[in-house]
Amino acid sequence: MSAASIRAQAEDLRRQIDYHNYRYYVLDDPEIPDSEYDRLMRELQALEAAHPELITPDSPTQRVGAQPLKEFAEVRHAIPMLSLGNAFSDEEMADFDERVRKLLNVEQIEYSAEPKLDGLAISLRYEKGVLVQGATRGDGHRGEDVTSNVRTIGAIPLRLLGEGWPAVLEVRGEIFMPKKGFEELNRRARKKGEKTFANPRNAAAGSLRQLDPKITATRPLSFYAYGWGELSVEKLGDSYSDAMAVIKEYGLPVSPELKVVQGLQGCLDYFDAMARKRDSLDYEIDGVVFKVNDLQQQERLGFVSRAPRWAIARKFPAQEALTVVKDVEFQVGRTGAVTPVARLDPVEVGGVTVRNATLHNMDEVKKKDVHIGDTVYVRRAGDVIPEIVRVLPERRPKTAQEVVLPKHCPVCGSDVIKPEGEAVARCTGGLYCPAQRKEAIKHFASRRAMDIEGLGDKLVEQLVEQELIHDPADLYSLTRQQLMGLERMGEKSAQNLLDALERSKETTLAHFLYALGIREVGEATSQTLAQQFGSLEALEKASEEELQETPDIGPIVAAHIAAFFHQPHNREVIDKLLQAGIHWPAVETPSEEELPLKGKTFVLTGSLSRPRSEIKVELQALGAKVTGSVSKNTDYVVAGEAAGSKLDKARDLGVTILDEDGLKILLASTA
Ligand code: IVH
Repeated sequence: MSAASIRAQAEDLRRQIDYHNYRYYVLDDPEIPDSEYDRLMRELQALEAAHPELITPDSPTQRVGAQPLKEFAEVRHAIPMLSLGNAFSDEEMADFDERVRKLLNVEQIEYSAEPKLDGLAISLRYEKGVLVQGATRGDGHRGEDVTSNVRTIGAIPLRLLGEGWPAVLEVRGEIFMPKKGFEELNRRARKKGEKTFANPRNAAAGSLRQLDPKITATRPLSFYAYGWGELSVEKLGDSYSDAMAVIKEYGLPVSPELKVVQGLQGCLDYFDAMARKRDSLDYEIDGVVFKVNDLQQQERLGFVSRAPRWAIARKFPAQEALTVVKDVEFQVGRTGAVTPVARLDPVEVGGVTVRNATLHNMDEVKKKDVHIGDTVYVRRAGDVIPEIVRVLPERRPKTAQEVVLPKHCPVCGSDVIKPEGEAVARCTGGLYCPAQRKEAIKHFASRRAMDIEGLGDKLVEQLVEQELIHDPADLYSLTRQQLMGLERMGEKSAQNLLDALERSKETTLAHFLYALGIREVGEATSQTLAQQFGSLEALEKASEEELQETPDIGPIVAAHIAAFFHQPHNREVIDKLLQAGIHWPAVETPSEEELPLKGKTFVLTGSLSRPRSEIKVELQALGAKVTGSVSKNTDYVVAGEAAGSKLDKARDLGVTILDEDGLKILLASTA
């Protein structure tokens, strides 16, 4: 292919990707599945990797890549970034409308209305259609240059779509973090014992003010435009709504809630509708912004100090309130997680009465230093469970009590353990605990566990809800009559299920161990355990220290295994299962010939066509060790698509690298 046609191909891919970004972020109407989008992106990446001279700064592959900064440079806003006046009641809205009408001397005003996003203001400067600068609001006159970070946000186009845009176009809007992304970010932080963000706004601000754009790139940020600054043309339209439609055509997302309404009544109705809709939006809003729609009228109204006279923010009632923690109780989730929940003096938060707030886990309780009797700030955001934001230590009574993790599960009485280094405490009564019943049985029946064909999640739920089974062992005493009494269960399917149950009795120790659903014990670990201990009896008797001597088993997993077998209830269920006839062939310690990969260490990296756990199990069965990081002791690196630093390291160290076909050949040669 000629250089020119390769360049044209790259450009074509970029146009396609830009267009699909627009469909996704601006129109909220993607034309192609994510996988197809990823494919286009990979194709462009491959082309650019082969021809680095063709990479352009506005290529969609160049969103991340800038080096970390020492500090942000200062940006002066040619046109200041203003703030907004507030209205906290319908009366204050009426005052605003009256003021505007008087100043303009008109009967009724046309307003544009849109949600007030709870994020942070940003200015995006496009020159000749290319994003050249992103700047925070700062004090309104001087902000910070956050261009490299802004470039990592998928919703912000690196170049404008279409043509005919002004040579200079400064778009202004809000960067925010969607609720789901925020929850996920905090969940990850909590799991790692790191600091969580108090709300999506703080999370968005903290993410945008990272000196390393690679960190910003991992944060789920989004953007809506709500105005403009410097323009090299006189205007984008006659009204705010027309101008925003133009901005949207250029490829910048505009709130889909933007509407034109007539007069004060139109504003009040819009506000009520948005208050009802608020919880169902996937981002946080703290009110509605109304703007006089006609731009000539806006100009006549002008500004007072730092805010325009032509706009107002009608705010929702506060989402935070003060109350007292009456008690802290512990709830057990379906995976056994034991979660502290604060019982509160009932308090109104944003129009809803709040009685309970989650404390997530004991680390959170310690970090926030919550005591029973404390006065606290509670926060309710949308439909998520209310949270305790912080304690007012100055209001702590002398009688305040420390929160202690119970030693026994409040639901089933089994031991509660919290392994060192884990944030979450768990009930160890996995097979027995009513709170965990459904999940335990679903897992037990699943394909990779006991593989009970035809026993799907819905059926397990019915069986548990009708109290036909209480633990997995009860499955094996189900009768045809009982099964036929269930929804959508005929004679034939009942018999099929009984047959499948019968077949499942013949299993392997590894499958059985996996089916028990011991925390952190996946397929690969089950297999290692089966091979190392050889029998269930030996494993049941093993101490934590002995367990830790097993390859790949660290202190946390060892603690979970020991705690599981320590519970009399779990042992009872296991006995019942064995009595029902579950059996497996004795595990023979394989001879040297049967372990052709003994002593070989593998690392799996990149995206492979099968789950890594599955390949790991296969390799381990042949005696190989599978580890997570590449070192000089690694014998093989199996690299899938988009393998990164591990592959580089393997190359540096001269480790043998296999693709999936290579692995197949190697496995075939051991057979
Ligand atoms: S218009 C001159 N529209 O609210 C008016 N602002 O309290 C400029 N905000 O700094 C702002 N959503 O960060 C406008 N739809 C919206 C908004 C919005 C959120 C923020 C913005 C501004 C602050 C003022």
